[in-house]
Amino acid sequence: MNILAIETSCDDTAVAIVRCKNDFKNLQTKVLASEISSQIKIHAKHGGIVPNLAAREHEKNLAVIFKQALKKAKIKQKDFEKEIALIAVTKGPGLQPALLMGLNFAKALAYFTNKPLIGVNHLEGHIFSCLIDFEKEKNNDINLPAVCLLVSGGHTQLYEIKSWDDISLKGETLDDAAGECFDKIAKMLKLGYPGGVFVSKMADQFILKNKNYKKQFNLPRPLIGSKDFDFSFSGLKTAVLYLIQKLKKEKSFTQKTKSQICFEAQEAICEVLVKKTLNLAEKSKAKTIIISGGVSANKRLRTLFEEKIKNDYAFFAPDLKMTTDNAAMIAVAGYYQWLKNKKDDPLSLEVDLTL
Ligand code: KG4
Ligand code: ZN
Repeated sequence: MNILAIETSCDDTAVAIVRCKNDFKNLQTKVLASEISSQIKIHAKHGGIVPNLAAREHEKNLAVIFKQALKKAKIKQKDFEKEIALIAVTKGPGLQPALLMGLNFAKALAYFTNKPLIGVNHLEGHIFSCLIDFEKEKNNDINLPAVCLLVSGGHTQLYEIKSWDDISLKGETLDDAAGECFDKIAKMLKLGYPGGVFVSKMADQFILKNKNYKKQFNLPRPLIGSKDFDFSFSGLKTAVLYLIQKLKKEKSFTQKTKSQICFEAQEAICEVLVKKTLNLAEKSKAKTIIISGGVSANKRLRTLFEEKIKNDYAFFAPDLKMTTDNAAMIAVAGYYQWLKNKKDDPLSLEVDLTL
């Protein structure tokens, strides 16, 4: 069946059409269209996402991106009712004004065309991003059990996937998300938004030029030794803040020390993420480790995983385009709920910030 999906939880207006077949274990997906209008340039001026501004941009862009997606999928407007079997939309978590725009659009569309509507958990979408490929048809080739590290701007979570019907949250951040930590450090260093991209660029350039660099700042690796699967990044952020203050006082806050901070902070974040994921993989007797979400684009994180995993687990890191928010993953999450006989009422579906 063809699923039309809409995603507006944050700063990307995204519409996708995905063909899904079979039960989840034998899932076959084909992305017919995945259109995204990014607002990064608009929010970068403000150093972070402004929710009302995001909503205004979604309102401006949704109809246009929707039409663009139909065109890309070669579905004529008059054939919409015949070609599209289900509408999926992100209902949370995310920014309320932004979510409302996508939800309203999807509700009106579903009501008008008499199509079933499913409100989707955005995080479920990120988990399922391992089941799509923007370029080609894809069969579900993930060997279970698996663990999934979901690292985005707002979430850092570890899931155990025993079977496709048994996915459970095993740990998450107690305070800041890893992406948020990258973003806040970038803000302290006045590097730009989204912070993770800038911090990782500076870190990678630094280590390339200073191959034998020995760590100097002793930044904390919060909860790295704890037996649970939770994370905490606010202490690391504060440690970086104090370090910057100290360097400024000593008049040694330079371009070089800024790069050193980027490198050392990235090491600290990645080491914790990898260690905790491997702990869960071992406990779950996992065959596969999956990473997803914006931070999973981080090169150092991928390399560290590859180094530590060796041949013990299959490793799935999504295509870079798939790490950030998109609607194709929302379509797959919608299909997942559809297979469970879930449906929402187009007139009463609401944003759900409790997810
Ligand atoms: O999943 P995502 O696009 O949006 C949310 O649902 O939050 O994740 C955005 C986050 C931001 O915090 C951004 O700084 C981070 O992903 N990010 C990165 C990298 N690219 C994006 N963090 C570290 N390294 C990167 N290369
Ligand atoms: Zn996301």
